[in-house]
Amino acid sequence: MEAQQLESLIEAGPDYPVQTPDDDLLRLIEQPGERARGETAGEHGGGSDFVRFYSLRENPFSDSVNPAYFYKTDSHAEALDRMMMAVEHNVSLGMITGPSGMGKTLVTQLLLQSLDPAKYQAILVLVSPGLSKSGLLREILTELSIAVPEGMLRTQDLLKLLSNYIIDLHRQEKRLVILIDECHFLSSDCLHFVRTISNIEIPECKLTTSLLFGEERFAARLEHASYESLRNRMYLRGELKPMSPSECAQYVKFRLMIAGRMNDLFDPGAFQAIHAHSGGVCRNINKLCMLTLLQGVRRNRPVIDESVVAAGAAMM
Ligand SMILES: Nc1ncnc2c1ncn2[C@@H]1O[C@H](COP(=O)(O)OP(=O)(O)OP(=O)(O)O)[C@@H](O)[C@H]1O
Ligand SMILES: [Mg+2]
Repeated sequence: MEAQQLESLIEAGPDYPVQTPDDDLLRLIEQPGERARGETAGEHGGGSDFVRFYSLRENPFSDSVNPAYFYKTDSHAEALDRMMMAVEHNVSLGMITGPSGMGKTLVTQLLLQSLDPAKYQAILVLVSPGLSKSGLLREILTELSIAVPEGMLRTQDLLKLLSNYIIDLHRQEKRLVILIDECHFLSSDCLHFVRTISNIEIPECKLTTSLLFGEERFAARLEHASYESLRNRMYLRGELKPMSPSECAQYVKFRLMIAGRMNDLFDPGAFQAIHAHSGGVCRNINKLCMLTLLQGVRRNRPVIDESVVAAGAAMM
């Protein structure tokens, strides 16, 4: 992102609720602990108010999935592009995999924001372990606000409701896009059912796109022969990869700037340590940076170096 773009973004300020540090972490730092001789709790007192201590507008490292903080690494950009391509070219199935905490759910939110509601009816389904075939179908129907007549229990009947809706959408020149998050929890029954949904079609085209988001082990599972027909329909895939040291440093600076901090806060050694301790995984980076800032306040350090990062890492 260009510096100018970044600045105009920051000037515009966030149009979302201001967040405060997680309570658990605050409690952690507020426990009586060693404070080095001569160190103070910081100008704003309390020892835990790193937001004010570091002249931030809000917590830059909150664990919430907030698209305003999206930093486009190469792998995130490619994953997003591929999923947009899948939707725009009527591909029935697409998939994004990546380690836990690498931004899969964030990408679902960005897609929901990007898909033109005049062309697409997009929904997000979150899979939990043990979800049955009819449970999945009911989740989809609920997201689409389709009322299920009382006593309708058979999967076939529920599927009919869905396919009627999809055909209706087609008449309105719209397509259904189903984003399925945590797809590694789908049972094999459910997975085959996702394929069934992707088969809802008219002679000219497929009427839905399902995009699956899950951990890497899911891609390995799909290699099994029993999933060949599902795999073959999956024309577009993306993989979110841990950040390189330079991406990690840019990511941290970007989040700080969005939260209102324009001056350097971490020194180069601190960035190296953040990458080494987090493995370049976004959630780990966020957690580590927040713990580090809490430690920074505790030690009254206006600029964070490697030793403060090490103290933050010790709390992980
Ligand atoms: N590219 C990114 N830019 C900014 N923040 C990101 C990025 N990727 C992930 N994050 C942040 O990292 C945290 C974890 O992201 P997210 O919940 O999307 O990961 P996930 O891959 O869905 O994890 P899980 O597999 O555990 O569900 C969130 O706070 C998210 O906002
Ligand atoms: Mg997720």
